[in-house]
Amino acid sequence: MPFRTRRLGAATLALTALAGFTVSLLSAQPAAAADPLRTLAAAKGKFIGTAVATSPLANETAYRTIAAREFNQVTAENAMKWDATEPSDNQYNFIGADQVVAFAQANNQIVHGHTLVWHSQTPSWVQSLSATAMKAAMLDHIATVVGHFANNSAVQSWDVVNEVFDESGGYRTSFWYNTLGSSFIADAFRAARAADPDAKLCINDYNVEGINAKSTAMYNLVSTLKSQGVPIDCVGFQSHLATQYGFPGQVTENVARFAALGVQVRFTELDVRIVLPADATEITTQNQYYTNIINACLASTACPGVTIWGFTDKYSWVPDTFPSEGQALIYDASYNAKADYTAIATALGGTPSGDTTAPSAPTNLTASGTTSSGTTLSWTASTDNTAVTGYDILRAPGASGGTFAVVGSSTSTSYADSGLSASSTYRYQVRAKDAAGNLSAVSATVSVTTPAGGGGPGGCSAVGTTQTQWQGGYVIQPVTVTNTGSGQITSWTVTFTLPAGHTITGSWNAVLTVSGQTVTAKNANYNGTLGAGASTSFGFQVARPTSNTALPSGYACAAS
Ligand code: XIL
Repeated sequence: MPFRTRRLGAATLALTALAGFTVSLLSAQPAAAADPLRTLAAAKGKFIGTAVATSPLANETAYRTIAAREFNQVTAENAMKWDATEPSDNQYNFIGADQVVAFAQANNQIVHGHTLVWHSQTPSWVQSLSATAMKAAMLDHIATVVGHFANNSAVQSWDVVNEVFDESGGYRTSFWYNTLGSSFIADAFRAARAADPDAKLCINDYNVEGINAKSTAMYNLVSTLKSQGVPIDCVGFQSHLATQYGFPGQVTENVARFAALGVQVRFTELDVRIVLPADATEITTQNQYYTNIINACLASTACPGVTIWGFTDKYSWVPDTFPSEGQALIYDASYNAKADYTAIATALGGTPSGDTTAPSAPTNLTASGTTSSGTTLSWTASTDNTAVTGYDILRAPGASGGTFAVVGSSTSTSYADSGLSASSTYRYQVRAKDAAGNLSAVSATVSVTTPAGGGGPGGCSAVGTTQTQWQGGYVIQPVTVTNTGSGQITSWTVTFTLPAGHTITGSWNAVLTVSGQTVTAKNANYNGTLGAGASTSFGFQVARPTSNTALPSGYACAAS
């Protein structure tokens, strides 16, 4: 049974029911074409997960949409590590960790806690402690972090220790090992079990996917810990793969030998990087590696699921860590599903390429807020037999003739186009696309003529960015104000709508007044003058009722 049943939270029940019923009732009936990965995985009794980063989770709709739609498990990429949760001795901070868990709960996803005891991303104050103090700090950290989530039904497992071996199978000579010897490992597992008797407790490492000296050392350690009664439930194979190094040997046999010890085997941080530029052969190899890992998990009842280390190449640790390597994930940097996505879906039993039904054409295309250099398009959503994944925006120059070309894409039903010339006419069309790549017919055409740029007062635009949010509030920073005309402006006024019950608690670089739900932000005395095309910004902080997640909307700008 891949999902725990002992806790009665809604997320657990939903997933448990899904896994239980689909395995017994639906496996004879394949999941529908172009089902999201989580539906396909659940039909096999598995989870498919992703690591999530807190910044795009707070700031990018496309990121949130895909993370919620495609995955039924998440791991915090960094937010649960020691440097995030206990940066100073006994000063705990769960803002990022709670954000990830709240997202998971809102989307019926289970959470894997990563990671409690690791030599990396651990503050220096820990590293310099004496043996007695270091052990006490470790036990306190585990008790507090695991304890924080112990009654949360979504958080079901932990990486208790991470990367304790070196490549030859000896213990890594980390500050943990050098100060405490190998006994810190068993101590850590016992402390985690005491803090949450229900959680699955894992040891996690890289280069342990196949049978080799390192994975054999891990096997021997798990075997010893088991024989000593140390509470260990799972091993994590990180699975940071690279096409230039080949696929690890004997993965299936390796899974089987750990399963025989009575522990789960999870693929915890899967990605497949390529030395750039990637050629077609490398991409085929990459597709195959993704397929192989999914198949290895499907082949063993000891494997509850696979977690990919992120999903979009826009946010991957690979280029930062392995210079000149990249394209390791299953969506490209513009959130388009790659062939790796199809490979995983196919391995999970889906037939996404068999879906040939195109979405309906978008309707009611309108343009508004046209300035001398830009315009904002809005339309009514298309429908699809599975799901519309986005829209292409096409533009042609002039009132007639010319060719329509794609100038951008959007995952919502609006798009702000920029870079237009003053006193010019453009025509726009929009078309919808789905996960299988089917394109709708184009919408009706809307025509836009930009005003003259010089002479009179210029236009301006305002775009607000959510910098951070927490249960009781948020910071909008920057609100970028741009002179969209071709002449200088000397003042600007931005208006926007504040959700009911929200109150402004601070602002900077603008003078704010509030009337009902409308906020008016006028430039400060030092940032009203903007040359053509120039930008400035202001920001503000808001308090909102707990459990209210609304944000301001309808930013509009007027200039003189
Ligand atoms: C990485 C994150 O992806 C990066 O954002 C961070 O800067 C460094 O750590 N093994 C692990 C993960 O267990 O925690 C690492 O994550 C990748 C390697």
